[in-house]
Amino acid sequence: MTSPLQTRVLPLIGPGKIGLLTSGGDAPGMNAAVRSATKVALARGHRVYGIRHGYKGLLDGQLVPMDHGDVDDIVRWGGTVLGSARELRFKEPAGKALAQDRVMEFGLDGVVVIGGDGSLTGARELSKLTTARGEPLRVMGIPASIDNDVGCTSLAIGVDTAVNTIVGAVDRIADTARAHDRTFIVEVMGRDCGYLAMVAAIASAADAVLYRESGRSHDEMLSHLEQTVRQAYRPGGKRSRAKRMVVILKAEGVTLSSARIKEHLDEALLKEIPTLETRVTVLGHLVRGGAPTAMDRLMAARLGNVAVIALENGRTAMMAAWRPPVGGEETMDKDVRLFDLNTVLTETAALRAATSPVAKKRVEMLQAVESIFAL
Ligand code: F6P
Repeated sequence: MTSPLQTRVLPLIGPGKIGLLTSGGDAPGMNAAVRSATKVALARGHRVYGIRHGYKGLLDGQLVPMDHGDVDDIVRWGGTVLGSARELRFKEPAGKALAQDRVMEFGLDGVVVIGGDGSLTGARELSKLTTARGEPLRVMGIPASIDNDVGCTSLAIGVDTAVNTIVGAVDRIADTARAHDRTFIVEVMGRDCGYLAMVAAIASAADAVLYRESGRSHDEMLSHLEQTVRQAYRPGGKRSRAKRMVVILKAEGVTLSSARIKEHLDEALLKEIPTLETRVTVLGHLVRGGAPTAMDRLMAARLGNVAVIALENGRTAMMAAWRPPVGGEETMDKDVRLFDLNTVLTETAALRAATSPVAKKRVEMLQAVESIFAL
């Protein structure tokens, strides 16, 4: 269901003022989106304001005019040049009233919001504000979250870089694991979605992966790992000469802690495998930083381009999505489609609850290849 506001197409804006905002957890490639949105908007005669530190900066009036020189080189950098924050004030009526004042004060006609679930929820609220011209503020979202937990888009900005970073880190861990015949539990970010752990486990040839969407109980997870480790160190086993090590990838969202897994494996297997040495590595925020991959830059540039043109064409309360599995409104870029934010947020909630068809497909994809982990 879309509200009348969502389906309304506003008139074209002539030269207007467009604000750009990055919010929530930063993601590599956010800068590439800021760059393309800035350049496209400037080229089309708009004025561009960078809103510092997300919704916090909007409320505090931290808006800075942006020119070509501010964004020329930023495509190479991780993080976000605009800064980011998690801001609770914007959820309250007083915060919304303050945001309305800022929109009037700076004469904003539109805002591009780059971020994940919380940021896009904020974007929907922003779209309820009014411009100084007396029109609804035009708002366009761009999905950016390393967790790939935004609905209606096959990828969010930052995911590809994060997967590559994890694979690179696991390659290094595998070197030391191999040297010492050790077992490593490697924990990666992904609060609500285990996507990063799932795809990085396949790409890094891990021996096992734990992700919440599997629906496995803690006991099932532990006994599966026990089996995996036992198999790897079995005397005379296939791996006795070539590979006596184990790498387990664990998604942050699995409530079984890495420390508990280590404890369990040690307790259960040390008698049987006296040489067993287990170690835990939490990759954490390391995975959020770094130069964006070509894929993230390419996607971000194209999403930024579509977002600005969509705003100019009077679209509002929508998100530009990358190669969505189904639906959406076509744009001049065949890989980018527009979805209204209500649909995006509903899909996002289902994805995070692991009930959406997309979440189920991810699990099926992993189950289809899971047998190769043990080989
Ligand atoms: O950006 C999403 C995310 O990376 C989650 O996977 C993780 O739980 C969270 O951010 C960490 O957030 P913070 O930077 O606030 O610690």
